[in-house]
Amino acid sequence: MMSTDTLLPQAPGAIGVFDSGYGGLTILRDIRKRLPAYDYIYLGDNARAPYGTRSFDIVYDFTRQAVEELFRRGCHLVILACNTASAKALRSIQQNDLPELDPHRRVLGVIRPTIESLGETSPSGNIGLLATPGTVRSHSYAMEVGKLYPDMKVTEKACPMWVPIVENGEAAKPGADYFVEKYINEILAENAKIDTLILGCTHYPILIDKIRKYTPEGISILPQGKLVADSLADYLHRHPEMDAKCTKGGNTVYLTTESPRQFEPLASIFMNDKVKAEKVVL
Ligand code: DGL
Repeated sequence: MMSTDTLLPQAPGAIGVFDSGYGGLTILRDIRKRLPAYDYIYLGDNARAPYGTRSFDIVYDFTRQAVEELFRRGCHLVILACNTASAKALRSIQQNDLPELDPHRRVLGVIRPTIESLGETSPSGNIGLLATPGTVRSHSYAMEVGKLYPDMKVTEKACPMWVPIVENGEAAKPGADYFVEKYINEILAENAKIDTLILGCTHYPILIDKIRKYTPEGISILPQGKLVADSLADYLHRHPEMDAKCTKGGNTVYLTTESPRQFEPLASIFMNDKVKAEKVVL
């Protein structure tokens, strides 16, 4: 780990967006739509995805390495566009690492902005969480919901096959239907009163058509991109000192720990834009 902030560039830089793989692109897409003037660096740790089945310590180590890399590349603000990293690494990075790395830099997650929106979307207070095994095991959603809305009930369901389906480019293929239907049926069998399903993994919006197909009408499906984008816009508005450290050239740089040739075609589909990526070693 870096020992002091003296090694980090102090000039304004891009906003960093990190995910274990492709999933964070669903967040970046909405952030760029909401805040097109800013520069972004996206970092996908595709070579080590999925994170969802890994231990707390490993997810923390990998996430910290990614945040340090984004800081080294000039970011003052990094969004963990990954629920697993937000659940397992965000608090330690904020409390233990930032004071040492540079107390003026910020790392924000995706769980809080998602939960804050629940008051408006769930009349019955019965929430379903679809997420990776790691996010479910952390119970971060249930704990955070409990703090903001003590009367709400959260039913958590791990969907271990969904990320591999997306990372392997199988989301639109017929084989994906089996696992999408299975997990949705299982969570609704656990609590038939659920009126809101949180897609608590940034990979899941890529399966949204199939998720809609197997979700009964009347249940709201909550992807996170727009919620995170609105929350970031609000954050930058409330923190002009951070806004001043974010450059505004409208450019996005893509980094992947995998081979760029493997990353680019799928990333281009997710971004609906031609993606050119650079390999990074963490
Ligand atoms: N996209 C990530 C999330 O939101 C992690 C998926 C994974 O690597 O398992 O949790």
